[in-house]
Amino acid sequence: MQIKINGKKYSAKEKDTVLDVCRREGIRIPTLCSHGKLKREAVCRLCLVEIDKSGRLVTSCATKAVDGMKVETENENIQKARAINLELLWADHAGKCFQCKKNRRCELQTLAEEYKIENFHFVPRKGEMTSGEENELLLDNWSRVVVDRENPVIERDSQYCVECRRCINICPVSSYGFNHRSGDVVVGTPYNQPLDCIFCGACVTHCPTGALADQGDIQKVITDLDDTNILSVAIVDPVVLKSAMQELLEVKNMENLAGNLRALGCEKVFDLSWGFQKYVEAVAEEIHPHHARKKTPVRQRKFISSFCPSAALYIQKYFPELIKNIIDVKRPEELMAEAVKWEYAKREKIDPKNIRVILISSCAARKKLKSNAIDHIVTVRELGRIAREKKTENIRFKGSAADKFLDETDAEYATTYGYGNLSAMTAKKIKGDFSIGAANGVLEIKNALSAELKREKHYDFLEVMVCPRGCERGGGQSAEI
Ligand code: FES
Repeated sequence: MQIKINGKKYSAKEKDTVLDVCRREGIRIPTLCSHGKLKREAVCRLCLVEIDKSGRLVTSCATKAVDGMKVETENENIQKARAINLELLWADHAGKCFQCKKNRRCELQTLAEEYKIENFHFVPRKGEMTSGEENELLLDNWSRVVVDRENPVIERDSQYCVECRRCINICPVSSYGFNHRSGDVVVGTPYNQPLDCIFCGACVTHCPTGALADQGDIQKVITDLDDTNILSVAIVDPVVLKSAMQELLEVKNMENLAGNLRALGCEKVFDLSWGFQKYVEAVAEEIHPHHARKKTPVRQRKFISSFCPSAALYIQKYFPELIKNIIDVKRPEELMAEAVKWEYAKREKIDPKNIRVILISSCAARKKLKSNAIDHIVTVRELGRIAREKKTENIRFKGSAADKFLDETDAEYATTYGYGNLSAMTAKKIKGDFSIGAANGVLEIKNALSAELKREKHYDFLEVMVCPRGCERGGGQSAEI
């Protein structure tokens, strides 16, 4: 089928919406509620387009392409309507950006700037209300605001929420939903209880504003970075690079990233690959003896990787009978941070008390880990905030690769990992006739574990990761736009 967009012909597939065709063809349409393959909610009404020169504006995200359809994506009418819808959303936000954790990385803020939303027709002006009315309005607004800082990984502040529903549609364990009824419906958690989830952070990467953000205080990290009596050691997960390039605009490779980290105040920059290698060796060691007892009942075998903290939590919550099957070895970052604090400190004759280990992580759930050796866990988003605070986000610092750590890491571990790579490396390490599998995403994990429980499948080792493409799309990475 063919449709005409702005006078040019394009082919469309059967289930395509107008927005799908435009995105595929690189025709930009502003959107806020629609995101990638998530369910289309059509609530923000920013993606308006005109159909068949009728003057009728429709949401392109919810309008199916029909053969012969004529679509216009830009004209005065469309611009005006989009701007009004945007202004309605922006009216709630104006003046709040300064203290927002997503300031300068907020999709609504970017659109408001693009559409030059400066007039506030929907906000009462000075003198239009009595002070009593103003107080009442403010109290009413605040009575609906939910600020939840109880979750160790994710912070919620509903005053920034634009009700786009992306969090509802992306959460793999359905922790979000609607509260209240009719015109008062708001996105939140069941009965407005503290967020109870598996901390994967997907909601934060998908939230277009600062309604969902990283828990934690970057000022503490900055204080340590600036303290000249402290040796700040960054441990960098190499999988953060692509995302770091979004936050630190002049970073083009690992060397630049190491250079930028040094400029922020990290005296040493180590690559987490060392920890990954030690982790794989420990896992191989752990599962090896069990191979001889292949017929051992599932309940007595350790076969599930503990690499992904969210997956371990998912199993705790939904497959509690399999908790004891999780391989009990320390995670790469714990192994490496401990080595920094004890072995490296000893070799360099530094008092471990004067070392701060800062993990730069692609994973939001890692924030939940309690480790005596890791002082700060910083997501890529937070790394961007630190750089913006220190005004280094737009500078390319020439740097050499990461510093040399204790013993050399085998080159094969120095690649991007986290997407079936753990199982591949483990398979290499233990060799022989092992049944090794990988499950990425909650659905795959559920299917693999159920099959194992029903004895339809046997795994000697199963890599489980909650993020659909492993750490590469981890919940600590930069916003998914
Ligand atoms: S993107 Fe279409 S209504 Fe929000």
